[in-house]
Amino acid sequence: MIMALPADPMIDPFGRAISYLRVSVTDRCDFRCVYCMSENMSFLPKADLLTLEELDRLCSAFIRRGVRKLRITGGEPLVRRDILTLFRGLSRHLETGALEELTLTTNGSQLSRFAADLASCGVRRINVSLDTLDAGKFRAITRWGALDKVLAGIDAAQAAGIAVKINAVALKGVNEDELVPMIRWAHGRGMDITFIEVMPLGEIEQARIDQYLPLSLVRARLAETFTLEASEHRTGGPARYVTARETGGRIGFITPLTHNFCESCNRVRLTCTGTLFMCLGQEDAADLRRPLRASESDGPLIAAIDRAIARKPRGHDFVIDRATRAPALGRHMSVTGG
Ligand code: 5AD
Ligand code: SF4
Repeated sequence: MIMALPADPMIDPFGRAISYLRVSVTDRCDFRCVYCMSENMSFLPKADLLTLEELDRLCSAFIRRGVRKLRITGGEPLVRRDILTLFRGLSRHLETGALEELTLTTNGSQLSRFAADLASCGVRRINVSLDTLDAGKFRAITRWGALDKVLAGIDAAQAAGIAVKINAVALKGVNEDELVPMIRWAHGRGMDITFIEVMPLGEIEQARIDQYLPLSLVRARLAETFTLEASEHRTGGPARYVTARETGGRIGFITPLTHNFCESCNRVRLTCTGTLFMCLGQEDAADLRRPLRASESDGPLIAAIDRAIARKPRGHDFVIDRATRAPALGRHMSVTGG
């Protein structure tokens, strides 16, 4: 169903229509993935968080301004207390048709518990982050995670009728020898799998260059095993897909480093404190908490959203090389969500 767009959808200074909002509902996580977080993270005080009601109001304001796709992320969104209340509330926009899609990015650790309820809130597709199928390696990458729980979560999601896409960060020397078996596994279960290049976000223990595996290289290697056919498939995100003829399944590539995709960016990111980042790769941000709390009417909030979109930057300028030691940005991915 195509709904009428608002009379004046949000268009940024580069002519891009903004129709996709990603909302990080918590910066906390029950894992400590080595490329995402440092082992000793300091998190936001709970008192700084927007309430679930405030998050709903913010999301609803964006939907009024033409957002058609909402992704709930974190941190790990399913560790936020009472998170189903937010999903239940937002599902009303699916029912009216104002919202096309309500999705989730999760590490899967809590998914067995939540899958059926998420499905009943109208969640049809989710992304599960999973970088390896080897239990020992999984532990080493996530520091705190257990692979069997995540696999059980994926089972539960599929049993509830939710389409699962696997997101795997390509990590040099860690999972690079496993990508072919992971593709076979995912496609064997009817799941797409997308590889992501590691991005220089936040201080971590390791040097980024030691983690970074360019997907241009991965793709060339995969072409030795699979016949990769270009696919027109799009999910509204940055991934570009190919189909592996041998499995019939799709492989996605998210390439912030080797191929910048900013020219087609349609999204902005909201943090759990009401800060709007117009680009994952830039510092500039707009505070929406103040206009949200300043008035019961949505007028000032919507005006603040429009002002923020009017300064959405052209794109990121990530670099990972031997000479560049400092991260592009001080904040970790868990602040803005993936
Ligand atoms: N670079 C690339 N991907 C990252 N993720 C977390 N931190 C980074 C990073 N620095 C990924 C997670 C998950 C998604 C939300 O973002 O693995 O798939
Ligand atoms: Fe948690 Fe995802 Fe970051 Fe891993 S990558 S620590 S699962 S937020």
